[in-house]
Amino acid sequence: MLSTQERIQVAQVWDLIAGHEASFGAELLLRLFTVYPSTKSYFKHLGFCPDETQLLTHGQRMLEAVGVAVQHMDNLRAALSPLADLHAQVLRVDPSNFPLLIQCFQVVLASHLQGEFTVEMQAAWDKFLTGVAVVLTEKYR
Ligand code: HEM
Repeated sequence: MLSTQERIQVAQVWDLIAGHEASFGAELLLRLFTVYPSTKSYFKHLGFCPDETQLLTHGQRMLEAVGVAVQHMDNLRAALSPLADLHAQVLRVDPSNFPLLIQCFQVVLASHLQGEFTVEMQAAWDKFLTGVAVVLTEKYR
C-alpha cells in the first residue's frame, strides 16, 4: 500500500512519461533484452533481434498498461486482472523476470530525468512497480 506522499511521487513521474509511452517503452525493452538476454526467450515471435517498430509497438502497450495502473493505484488487482491472466496463465512468464524489468525501468527513468529523479521518487516507483508485478504474477498459485 503506497502512502499519500508515495502516490504523489509516482504521479509526478508519470506526468513526465505520459504522451511518450512508445519511446519510453521501446527503450525499456531494449535495455531489458540487452542487459538480460534470457528475457528475449518470451518474445521469440518478434524474431531474434526485434526491430524498432516492434519495440515501439510492444513498448507502447506495456507503458499504457503502467499508465492504467497509475490511474488505479488503489485497485491494481481489478484493473490488471486480464493482464494477470495473460502473463500467468497464457504467457507463463516466470516471476523472476519482473525484478529485471523493474530494474531497467528505473534506469530508464534515471537516465531521462537525471537530477529530477529523486531518491524518494525511485523508492515510490520501486514500491509501485513491485505492486504491479505482484498482481501480474500471483495467478500462478
Ligand atoms: C504482453 C504489460 C511484464 C512478456 C503484454 C501486454 C501488456 C503487457 C499490456 C499486451 C497485452 C495484449 O496484447 O493484450 C506488461 C507489464 C509488465 C509486463 C505492465 C510489468 C510491469 C512482462 C515481463 C515479460 C513480459 C517481465 C517477460 C520477460 C510479455 C509477452 C507478451 C506480453 C511475451 C506478449 C507479446 C505479444 O503478444 O507480442 N505485457 N508486461 N511481460 N508481455 Fe508483458
